[in-house]
Amino acid sequence: MDWGMQNRLSRIIRPDGRTLMLAVDHGYFMGPTTGLEDLGATVRPLLPYGDSLMLTRGALRYYISPQIDTPIILRVSGGTSILSKELLHEGITVSMEDAIRLNVAAVAFSIMVGADFERDTLLGFTQVVDEAERYGIPTLAVTAVGKALTRDAKYLSLATRIAGELGARIVKTYYCENFERVASTSPVPVVIAGGKKVPEKDALQVAYNAIQAGASGVDMGRNIFQSEDPVAMIRAVRGIVHDNLTASEAYEMFQDLKAQNAAQAVPA
Ligand code: R5P
Repeated sequence: MDWGMQNRLSRIIRPDGRTLMLAVDHGYFMGPTTGLEDLGATVRPLLPYGDSLMLTRGALRYYISPQIDTPIILRVSGGTSILSKELLHEGITVSMEDAIRLNVAAVAFSIMVGADFERDTLLGFTQVVDEAERYGIPTLAVTAVGKALTRDAKYLSLATRIAGELGARIVKTYYCENFERVASTSPVPVVIAGGKKVPEKDALQVAYNAIQAGASGVDMGRNIFQSEDPVAMIRAVRGIVHDNLTASEAYEMFQDLKAQNAAQAVPA
């Protein structure tokens, strides 16, 4: 593996083999998602606790200071919205030249294994892999799931393995029962998305279960930035990912930090 590729991957996956990606790329198909209306203001206090930041080029340019040193995972797929009949029938939205200009640590592309249009997304993905590899940039495959498909270990291990075999350096997928099968049959590190907002306790349990089952980390968005206390939540997730906290220890941490933050917010 060349130096640039290794350097970028080691900035994302930390020396303990784990990673906490903060995902705020939702606007590329969901528009002004709750919590991200002012993306810059939401992300600023969270930055010290994420190992990387996943977003689009427009959000990066408009909302994020170029002086940050957090590695950027740039979404380079898109082309459909939540209003589309073919949600996530995505193609390439960013040239590799622009990704390099933005000094990104990785690029991210959604694949739709099992959808009618899976071939388009898989070929778009491999085109991105070829271009990114030329410059030592890792590609993160996002294994998105269509409404008709079941998020079980059989499907997710299929999609994850295909992504790895086609050249992903990291795969983002979803947690499921028997996640060990998904992680153990992937040739590259696997991280889980958080999914829709659920109570903090439940989201922390999912993160814990995924790590125990072999995930290298999380690429979490809504369960952090839509939390009652996003800073407390990202710190609790970080405790699970990097400090081997159990789900209940992390939840206790979340509650303590939330209480402290609330106390500090009350004017004297
Ligand atoms: C979806 O395709 C986007 O890439 C999100 O970044 C991803 O789903 C992770 O965010 P969340 O934890 O909110 O699901």
